[in-house]
Amino acid sequence: MPNADWNAIQALPAKTLTDLFAEDSARLGKFSVDVAGLHFDWSKTHLTQDAVTAFEALAKAQGLAAKREALFGGEIVNVTEGRAVEHTAERGEGNPDSVGKARALHARMRGMIDAIEGEALGPIRHVLHVGIGGSALGPDLLVDALGRDADRYDVAIVANVDGVALEDAFARFDPTATLLVIASKTFTTTETMLNAQSVLQWMTEHGVSDPYGKVVALTADPDKALEWGVDETRILPFSESIGGRYSLWSSIGFPAALALGWDCFEELLEGAAEMDRHFRLTALHENAPALAAFADLYYTQVRHAETRATFAYDQRLKLLPPYLQQLEMESNGKSVTAEGEPLGRPSAAITWGGVGTEAQHAVFQLLHQGTHLVPVEFVASIEPGDTLSEDHHRQLLLNAFAQGAALMAGKHNEDAARSYSGDRPSSTILLDDLDARSLGALIAFYEHRTFVNGVLLGINSFDQFGVELGKEMAKAAVEGGQTFDASTDDLIKRAFG
Ligand code: F6P
Repeated sequence: MPNADWNAIQALPAKTLTDLFAEDSARLGKFSVDVAGLHFDWSKTHLTQDAVTAFEALAKAQGLAAKREALFGGEIVNVTEGRAVEHTAERGEGNPDSVGKARALHARMRGMIDAIEGEALGPIRHVLHVGIGGSALGPDLLVDALGRDADRYDVAIVANVDGVALEDAFARFDPTATLLVIASKTFTTTETMLNAQSVLQWMTEHGVSDPYGKVVALTADPDKALEWGVDETRILPFSESIGGRYSLWSSIGFPAALALGWDCFEELLEGAAEMDRHFRLTALHENAPALAAFADLYYTQVRHAETRATFAYDQRLKLLPPYLQQLEMESNGKSVTAEGEPLGRPSAAITWGGVGTEAQHAVFQLLHQGTHLVPVEFVASIEPGDTLSEDHHRQLLLNAFAQGAALMAGKHNEDAARSYSGDRPSSTILLDDLDARSLGALIAFYEHRTFVNGVLLGINSFDQFGVELGKEMAKAAVEGGQTFDASTDDLIKRAFG
């Protein structure tokens, strides 16, 4: 019974990190995993072998193995929406029919890239991608992380409906050499559709005679794109069974594949596939996504941690924290189980983070001395991204490692204000190198970790009804004629009279 398993987890003895290291000289090896060019180290968390065993029992009670097979098998795992969840099929791991369909759609996407390179749409130098949430965060992360040396196309990913975001892109781009990419699974998201219209208008105003001829649509609803005016040959569909926040592997990754080149995109898929196989085939006590989820759950459920922070000690991964915020919070920020029963326990932690070393001089004060318990995750690459003197990368990495050591060790001082309690947990993900393959594996790791968290909590990680009410009310406000509460009505009146 899951409750009995949770009770066993709650009853785990609480030992300090330094005691855990002192008691077991093999601790590091037991709580580290190497896979797909990534080294994971959870030894500075409070995970113990007893804890892992207790979580394995919970995983068994929650049917994790069967649910994982159902995920890869293309069965309906998004039960509230009656859908399969098939982002792994995009990487070649999953139901053979779905893998075949994904390959055919990738071939279409590649054909479009070849056509653009061959100037079938005229000379294109700039790519203006409009999309929001999962239709923006993934491609943005990819282009930012891997595109430093790419000079094929200049890409701007615009999500916000605030016109400032579009105007900033307009200022950089030549309208006659710009490709408009409209990314929307539903092709109804109001911010994206308004942004797309404004890009067309900008093109028209700047002498582009056939702006619709420079539009590519990425969507799971090709009919809507067709209705909107996109030519059928320039619609790159993806399957309805790909969730928005899991969609960068599908045609939603188009701007990245275009800017970085197809080989790079394929390497990304291959890296993710390697992590898929690891997740699917490895025993839970050596399984990177499972161990990470066990630590997450230990801190949220036993130690009442309300947040978890990821710090990328790599400037190229500065968009990783916002990407993870959508992945984890939209997936597991829910108060009911997949069966609609009250969750009865904290949902997943609030995800936040930043970039090291900047964050050390801004938010680390709270991490070292605040009253909140915040499990910290460091992500770094052994190979540097820069070509400056070695001092830069050396300092970068050693800062990350030293922060983990300081959080754990603490330091006593007679003066309480200068004292560090220590025993604060951290984990580290060390990439051999940051490239398409390792980034694919890293993102797939986070996806599967999110899945394990969801299954163990009993949550359906693949719906997002929580965003609907706000959308409905914003729509009603934009349409006008509706009253809300006194405060909201007053704000509307102040802004629009
Ligand atoms: O509002 C939430 C959401 O539905 C996300 O799940 C999704 O990634 C985003 O909006 C964008 O949706 P679409 O791709 O349909 O425009």
